[in-house]
Amino acid sequence: MYAAKNLHAARWELVAFYQHAAEADVPELNRLAKTVSTWETEILNYHVTGISNGTNRGPEPHRREASKDRTRDAQLRELSAQVVAPLGRDMEHSINCSNQRPPPTPHGVKPSYQGEFRRSSQRTGHDDRATPSDDRWNSPAKLVRMRAYLGKVYEHALRALPPGVAGRVDLLWPSYRDSWGGPLNGQVLRQEIVRDLAGAIQFDRVIETGTYRGTSTEFFAKVFDLPVETIEANRRYFSYSSRRLRTRPEVSVAFGDSRPFLSRLAKAHAHQTVFIYLDAHWAEDLPLAEELGVIAGGWLRAVVMIDDFQVPGDPGYGYDDYGEGKVLSEEYLPGNGLRGWGIFYPSASAFNETGSKRGSVVLASPSLVEAVDALAQLQAGRVL
Ligand SMILES: C[S@@+](CC[C@H](N)C(=O)[O-])C[C@H]1O[C@@H](n2cnc3c(N)ncnc32)[C@H](O)[C@@H]1O
Repeated sequence: MYAAKNLHAARWELVAFYQHAAEADVPELNRLAKTVSTWETEILNYHVTGISNGTNRGPEPHRREASKDRTRDAQLRELSAQVVAPLGRDMEHSINCSNQRPPPTPHGVKPSYQGEFRRSSQRTGHDDRATPSDDRWNSPAKLVRMRAYLGKVYEHALRALPPGVAGRVDLLWPSYRDSWGGPLNGQVLRQEIVRDLAGAIQFDRVIETGTYRGTSTEFFAKVFDLPVETIEANRRYFSYSSRRLRTRPEVSVAFGDSRPFLSRLAKAHAHQTVFIYLDAHWAEDLPLAEELGVIAGGWLRAVVMIDDFQVPGDPGYGYDDYGEGKVLSEEYLPGNGLRGWGIFYPSASAFNETGSKRGSVVLASPSLVEAVDALAQLQAGRVL
């Protein structure tokens, strides 16, 4: 709140915080939200008087725990975005981005925490704190309820449609273009790493597994200016992304499973230097080990970036854990297949990262270890 650039922006931060607290429905968070609500006038006054009772430290490190269920997480974000979109692009942005930046503010935003009230009113169906003058902007709890409801209706309605058609309908929602908060989960430092790699190594081709909405795909197309091949196993996302990206002739969106897709590409382009972004981890079926096997056997010159990977020594970065033997961490890497490959992690602490703060690892084939090692944004781990 203190880091917001003005009073209106701080109010929006409060709205977003209350929404988050109400959605999470965790007793401790509810208590914190109520306390903040009690002191909100004093907190917001900082932007009028410049005086606070605490230090202005800017945004706190956002710690995101390993998520086993990214599908649900993604759907939540999407539903938020869908329902908030009609209420204003700025609000939508504020909810969709994890590193919420203060959007331009409509007048009359009056944040107050109503998470507990939300639950009691669900039981009674009666809004006992609402006044006739309440409007949609000054009741975050109403917004959350309406969002959840409309989101469910939208999903339900679209499930009745063939996935290809649903994907086309999804194109009507501009917020979907920035899924996960923007390219590479909205992580600016990660984007820097990719730019550095693109500048340091002469790649011939970019390959991505797990297209989803094509947000990172589009980023790769812009940064590398090379052929980009991406694969998506879900028809609705494939339908969406292939249409979204059809104005980019250098991008090819395929439908299917990432493993045969990589095998095909490895056969066709074995001699090329490739940048590969592995992000097709989503549910029970974790293709990562097999994807790495295909890559290690298929290319001599490759740099692989894996999303949602544990960064040793920095718990601020989130990573995926799909159960025993399926934790995305260094132990998961097939030592034999990747012998001689270098492991690199982000040099920057998660504290300084933006967006979802998901961890990542970069693997460099033996012939490219030296080039990757020269990049300041990456720190060398061990050689496999
Ligand atoms: C985390 S999302 C990808 C996000 C995307 N790379 C981005 O940065 O915006 C994972 C996607 O992988 C897809 N997926 C899961 N398993 C797959 C597989 N075996 N082959 C291809 N795609 C898969 C899912 O349907 C989902 O859309």
